[in-house]
Amino acid sequence: MKFFIDTANLKDIQEAVELGVLDGVTTNPSLMAKEGIKGTDAVMAHYRQICEIVDGDVSAEVIAVDFDGMVTEGEALAELHPNIVVKVPMTRDGVKAIKYFSEKGIKTNCTLVFTAGQALLAAKAGATYVSPFVGRLDDIGHDGVQLIEQIVQIFSNYGYPTQVLAASVRHVPHLIQCAEIGADVVTCPLNVITGLLNHPLTDKGLAQFLADHKKVNA
Ligand code: G3P
Repeated sequence: MKFFIDTANLKDIQEAVELGVLDGVTTNPSLMAKEGIKGTDAVMAHYRQICEIVDGDVSAEVIAVDFDGMVTEGEALAELHPNIVVKVPMTRDGVKAIKYFSEKGIKTNCTLVFTAGQALLAAKAGATYVSPFVGRLDDIGHDGVQLIEQIVQIFSNYGYPTQVLAASVRHVPHLIQCAEIGADVVTCPLNVITGLLNHPLTDKGLAQFLADHKKVNA
């Protein structure tokens, strides 16, 4: 399973790279705004910086909601770096744009996916990734992980090459559940990735090993 980090924060991206387990980055307009990145030039420069830090796919989202606008923005984003994946919302024009980009060999990530039907449409249009939002479904009392399972099953039934990118992954159990059911990718904040390190028995055991070593090597 690939690990993507869901942030536009360069320090967090660098930290995940240094841990040695990062396969890519996803961003969205909210995450860019959180870092105070405004204006097209600054946004483009920021994506370039991210691509210099991480050797893997970097999702950059279009702001336009009409087909022509998505195509113009997406082509400009794709020109920034070979690792840029154009992130397109799950709308009628978005599906058309995914088809267009797919035919041009430009990688896409279909975002804001909340049903298996939406995922199927994106796969048929040729999306590289589909991003079902696990946490946001849980937020409204649905089962986000169950949706991931459904989409993994459907794509496997027909051999769609589209990768299931579990997004809005908020905590370690989400990540583990997505791994158990075969999501191709999870994207989550740094604290979820580093959260995988933790167990109190690991800390306790290490302290004991070091203490015992010190006793005989004093
Ligand atoms: O990037 C899309 C998704 O991962 C957002 O997550 O936590 O804002 O629902 P969240």
